[in-house]
Amino acid sequence: MPITFFEELQAVPQHILVLRSPSVWHIILLVEALHSLCCLLALASGLSAAAIEFNRDIRPLLSDRCFACHGPDASHRKTKLRFDIESSATAALAGGRHAIDPGNPEASEIIKRVSSTNRALRMPPAYAKKDALTGVQIDLLRRWIAEGAHW
Ligand code: HEC
Repeated sequence: MPITFFEELQAVPQHILVLRSPSVWHIILLVEALHSLCCLLALASGLSAAAIEFNRDIRPLLSDRCFACHGPDASHRKTKLRFDIESSATAALAGGRHAIDPGNPEASEIIKRVSSTNRALRMPPAYAKKDALTGVQIDLLRRWIAEGAHW
């Protein structure tokens, strides 16, 4: 004897019926979408908060813009100040200042010099024909120094 549609419907468990309703699917999809969005945001903020590494993030920048005059090549070095060697970069300058004062970016001469709008002070100097550091690059230096300027 064939079962009626009504009997068949009763045989289907209630929760499956609920899931068959399109509006419930919309809610599930929305929750999933929000979940993915949260994961992406968490990932993005995690990436930007990752610790800065000298060799990967800082050295290439200093090498490109500063090493010509503050680097390993003694014949081109313009001052005693070197940025390829930690002990030189953090040593006391005249007047007790420091090019890099680990943990203290605002007291570090390097930040003052790269962000200066005064052409006579800004590093790299105008005559070096090298691009000034961008805001993003200065922020990176600042964060690296705030994190303790680890070589
Ligand atoms: C073309 C050569 C040249 C380049 C490139 C250069 N500098 Fe200099 N820098 C100098 C000279 C020369 C001085 C000393 C005169 C002065 O203080 O302006 C100096 C001084 C400095 C001082 C101050 C030292 C003190 O005793 O107060 C800092 C800090 C500095 N440079 C950082 C940098 C940084 C960071 C870069 C790269 C972004 C850079 N310089 C690129 C030539 C250069």
